[in-house]
Amino acid sequence: MDNSNLQRLFTLFLFSLIAPSLAQQSFRPRALVVPVKKDASTLQYITQIKQRTPLVPENLVLDIGGQFLWVDCDNNYVSSTYRPARCGSAQCSLARSDSCGNCFSAPKPGCNNNTCGVTPDNTVTGTATSGELAQDVVSLQSTNGFNPIQNATVSRFLFSCAPTFLLQGLATGVSGMAGLGRTRIALPSQLASAFSFRRKFAVCLSSSNGVAFFGDGPYVLLPNVDASQLLTFTPLLINPVSTASAFSQGEPSAEYFIGVKSIKIDEKTVPLNTTLLSINSKGVGGTKISSVNPYTVLEDSIFKAVTEAFVKASSARNITRVASVAPFEVCFSRENVLATRLGAAVPTIELVLQNQKTVWRIFGANSMVSVSDDKVLCLGFVNGGENPRTSIVIGGYQLEDNLLQFDLATSRLGFSSLLYGSRTTCANFNFTSAA
Ligand SMILES: *[C@@H]1O[C@H](CO)[C@@H](O)[C@H](O)[C@H]1NC(C)=O
Ligand SMILES: *[C@@H]1O[C@H](CO)[C@@H](O)[C@H](O)[C@H]1NC(C)=O
Ligand SMILES: *[C@@H]1O[C@H](CO)[C@@H](O)[C@H](O)[C@H]1NC(C)=O
Ligand SMILES: *[C@@H]1O[C@H](CO)[C@@H](O)[C@H](O)[C@H]1NC(C)=O
Ligand SMILES: *[C@@H]1O[C@H](CO)[C@@H](O)[C@H](O)[C@H]1NC(C)=O
Repeated sequence: MDNSNLQRLFTLFLFSLIAPSLAQQSFRPRALVVPVKKDASTLQYITQIKQRTPLVPENLVLDIGGQFLWVDCDNNYVSSTYRPARCGSAQCSLARSDSCGNCFSAPKPGCNNNTCGVTPDNTVTGTATSGELAQDVVSLQSTNGFNPIQNATVSRFLFSCAPTFLLQGLATGVSGMAGLGRTRIALPSQLASAFSFRRKFAVCLSSSNGVAFFGDGPYVLLPNVDASQLLTFTPLLINPVSTASAFSQGEPSAEYFIGVKSIKIDEKTVPLNTTLLSINSKGVGGTKISSVNPYTVLEDSIFKAVTEAFVKASSARNITRVASVAPFEVCFSRENVLATRLGAAVPTIELVLQNQKTVWRIFGANSMVSVSDDKVLCLGFVNGGENPRTSIVIGGYQLEDNLLQFDLATSRLGFSSLLYGSRTTCANFNFTSAA
């Protein structure tokens, strides 16, 4: 073998050693995509990501305003790449944790010495506990906006361990919650910084199989509708006081609030105590978006005013009220209710935002819930009682088949309105890989 051949062989050998790691590092996805299925019995929205080494798929309740990813580590969490976050580390400060803990049994995921702790929160039941902050590998599918493409891996993704009891109240088969809130360690910020893409994400909930994206659009739904082009924008507001089940003083809320200024029903303004619509210095009032509330929840006086106006506007359309069906109060006979492309032809509910032209319209498909073998339609809003923490909580049913894009850098929300108007739905992302 002469010298040049030897060199070639050596170069080839080097290349084969380096190539796999180079390929991994040079792959910079523009966006990531995850499925979001609705659980029929709990009405929770469930996503799936892979975590650990070797990778294990984990079903997680999607919480748009949740603080971070938390996972049950007590039940079979086995991973060669699990690393607890050491007290005083950069990871602990990113998570705003200044607590430091020891563990008095044999070390394992969730139980290590000299580790900082955070407060994983089951926002469905309002239960929080303490949990070890840790890092491990996570893997998600990347996307070109049309299909999933390659899988993308983050080697040191921060999350919290939680004890098994924190899963109580969550859907069967779930091992934690995926928080998409405004913190530095929620999924949107960590994924954006891992792959250097814009701090934007989008959620498209469905009664069946929806989708969520991390990163910017296009967000293409069959038949070739780019939902990122359908957005109207409104500022996201910061609630200065945490809305978590347990928190330390001075911590702002991780949830996403918007500024509803008034509510109209069939173009008539509903008389409301507008003080309730803004967030006061104690963090009370205002309007937030929640994927853990199955239906929109209204403060008692707002609920009464809105339902009264809705009943009146329905009767003007010859729609007959019938007995309530729990958890709903206002129900109608389906007779005399026409079906349209946007759902049942009932009064339109409008949430008027920063000006009279910026309006979130709620049509029949998002306002009416079919009950009693489809003979009865109920207004899918529930009464939140007097003095709730937040006056209006826009819940999952009202979000379905609307694309919402959250832009953390510019603090604004883009909303598409009901996608049926653009002849598509949130169940229409093509999950067939185009790898
Ligand atoms: C962890 O710290 C506790 C309390 O200081 C100690 O009793 C225990 O032996 C330590 N465990 C390990 C594995 O170092
Ligand atoms: C990528 O992830 C998807 C979904 O988790 C999985 O079905 C597929 O096998 C993975 N592909 C590779 C090459 O690992
Ligand atoms: C409006 O709501 C605020 C906040 O709950 C309350 O203090 C005030 O008394 C209410 N005003 C009226 C007219 O009910
Ligand atoms: C409502 O019903 C009454 C009686 O059936 C009818 O006369 C009237 O035209 C209807 N109004 C509308 C708006 O459909
Ligand atoms: C979904 O994407 C796959 C891969 O690109 C493609 O072959 C298939 O035709 C698409 N499905 C539809 C319904 O367009």
